[in-house]
Amino acid sequence: MGGIMNMYHPTRIPIGSGFGHKQTPLGRRAVHRVRMSLREEGPSVAIVGVTGAVGQEFLSVLSERDFPYRSLKLLASKRSAGKTLTFENRNYTIEELNENSFGDVDIALFSAGGSISKKFGPLAVEKGAIVVDNSSAFRMDEGIPLVIPEVNPEAMEGIKVNNGKGALIANPNCSTIICLMAATPLHRRAKVTRMVVSTYQAASGAGAAAMEELEEQTREVLQGKEPTCNIFKQQYAFNLFSHNAPILSNGYNEEEMKLVKETRKIWNDHNVKVTATCIRVPVMRAHAESVNLQFETPLDEKTAREILSNAPGVVVIDDRAANLFPTPLEVSNKDDVAVGRIREDISQDGNYGLDIFVCGDQIRKGAALNAVQIAEMLL
Ligand SMILES: NC(=O)c1ccc[n+]([C@@H]2O[C@H](COP(=O)([O-])OP(=O)(O)OC[C@H]3O[C@@H](n4cnc5c(N)ncnc54)[C@H](OP(=O)(O)O)[C@@H]3O)[C@@H](O)[C@H]2O)c1
Repeated sequence: MGGIMNMYHPTRIPIGSGFGHKQTPLGRRAVHRVRMSLREEGPSVAIVGVTGAVGQEFLSVLSERDFPYRSLKLLASKRSAGKTLTFENRNYTIEELNENSFGDVDIALFSAGGSISKKFGPLAVEKGAIVVDNSSAFRMDEGIPLVIPEVNPEAMEGIKVNNGKGALIANPNCSTIICLMAATPLHRRAKVTRMVVSTYQAASGAGAAAMEELEEQTREVLQGKEPTCNIFKQQYAFNLFSHNAPILSNGYNEEEMKLVKETRKIWNDHNVKVTATCIRVPVMRAHAESVNLQFETPLDEKTAREILSNAPGVVVIDDRAANLFPTPLEVSNKDDVAVGRIREDISQDGNYGLDIFVCGDQIRKGAALNAVQIAEMLL
């Protein structure tokens, strides 16, 4: 993948200018006034993988939320080292990540893949940094909090920047975050005993290069050319296929098993039954998920709609008359997870089941926003 200058990304940061759209209620977008978040008393922050899809979103989210920072270090691979990037009216030179990158870092936001996290995460912690990691490297490790701030903030209790101690906190998988943002408020009321998830996952979940590939393939197919397949093994444009994560011996792929295992850890409920089928669809950005829930105690759809309407970070789009429900386009670049198609599961008697359809921007709430919310809780 090339550097930020040639990268396709819907929220690309214009080099040399202010940027960004402030999050507003769904359906509205307002141009964001660039704030100056540089503060003497703030933590020093490093972003590992700043040129990637999630890395770029980190910058947008930090700026939009006016995250206070004393200094900012932008890290990527050798390929990007030396390139300059303007953020909040200051020029930064991207540095190559190495063993000495974390000497003066309080919070390190990692999004450069699992192997980079495995190698450099513990190193950063050793130097006293609090690492918020977007990869799957540490998610299921005992003692590592796996946190969605709206769902289980208590899991990271006591971890604070001013403790002066390094620590590692894992960001859950994007599909898990989007699913649990909607399922948890209902779980709190009626206790979910079984959950069946089917996903429709966007190109952005596979990074900036996958988004480029979908765009290129779409152009090629329309021109009657053979599509270029570098990231995925098969044609992606005008097609869909089972998620590209490796298939395990039980027939599930790794993405599906993340939904199973991470839900249990986040809900601290090792008995909840979860099954999933994860599919990659030719959508540029934002995942959709169909979620079927079975409850221990009855929950009618009217009460469920009320609960979801009041849930933080969730917005209900459920207009049956107009056949208007959440879409990936509607939630792209938005913070909130949208829920609709809220209906009683007619295959279960007595209000013990519900079907919902959920959409969320997985680069934002599924990755960068969730990590920055975690970082805010460290202050
Ligand atoms: N995309 C999502 O929606 C999403 C959601 C949740 C979690 N995640 C996780 O976040 C991580 C990044 O995903 P992404 O989608 O942002 O990928 P991406 O667009 O491919 O970006 C990868 C980033 O990692 C950097 N990198 C690669 N090799 C490196 C090295 N040896 N040293 C330092 N930096 C290196 C790249 O820098 P160069 O530009 O210099 O190569 C780039 O900044 C992955 O672990 C992914 O699973 C992604």
